[in-house]
Amino acid sequence: MTIQTGPRAACLIGWPAAHSRSPLIHHYWLRTLGIEGGYNIEAVPPEGFAEFILHLSGHGFVGANVTRPHKERALALSEPDARARAVGAANTLWYDGEKLCSTNTDVEGFINNLDASAPGWDRASDALVLGAGGASRAVLFGLLERGITRVHLANRTFERAQALADQFGAAVHPVAWGAIGELLPGAGVLVNTTSLGMHGQPPLAIDLGGLAADAVVADLVYVPLKTPLLAAAEARGLRRADGLGMLLHQAVRGFELWFGRRPEVTPELRALVEADLTKG
Ligand code: ATR
Repeated sequence: MTIQTGPRAACLIGWPAAHSRSPLIHHYWLRTLGIEGGYNIEAVPPEGFAEFILHLSGHGFVGANVTRPHKERALALSEPDARARAVGAANTLWYDGEKLCSTNTDVEGFINNLDASAPGWDRASDALVLGAGGASRAVLFGLLERGITRVHLANRTFERAQALADQFGAAVHPVAWGAIGELLPGAGVLVNTTSLGMHGQPPLAIDLGGLAADAVVADLVYVPLKTPLLAAAEARGLRRADGLGMLLHQAVRGFELWFGRRPEVTPELRALVEADLTKG
């Protein structure tokens, strides 16, 4: 193991090293908290990933974020917590002594963003979640952990919703995509985890007329910032939690683990990332 003498640094590991907002977020926190540290992007191909993270400290890092296509391997090559295991993917790595630990911060990103955007949202007993991919797993884990008693899970491909219901237990009820309309009146929280509404994808065309006036609508899509679903929720005067808020909140835990201070999601940080997302 290399002895680290310089400032602490973390990195984002991906392949290709996609354009990510994580450096912008972590550099903002380093700057505003006055911490001397770094956050690099590391392009690591699949065949080099195991060596890279098994010698992460030797490469000069106290921890890392992991993105596509490495999140499942990161889980297998580290000591995951319950969240990472339930989601089936790890996105944040850190050392506990010599041990390389991992978690999935999408769970708390989703939940903490709901807490910040729609306090009291968890008074709802029922939720309706759309989509059954990786993002949906993080959402299901968070909702159940916070005490939501029943989650209806609608997915275009029913079998994937069924598979998640089998994994998460009796509180999760798989339903046909066509049943969304009739489930809206009972849903205190509606969450879109599909890619519908994302730039270049068709909108998520749902008539929100059936939702109760105190229902909360969350969308994980953040490009565009205001998805057609969120625009429809706004038009109805419903409370909303957007994808950018989740992105910012999911970054908090990694920073805290690597640099020892818990940073805040401020309006200034949000404006900074918003400007980056909307620039040409
Ligand atoms: P992620 O890991 O980001 O959740 P994913 O695993 O590719 O990504 O999941 C994408 C989700 O968007 C899935 O629930 C997918 O539905 P299918 O399981 O039927 O593929 C959903 N999705 C994508 N395009 C869709 C569309 N046109 N209509 C409905 N659902 C769609």
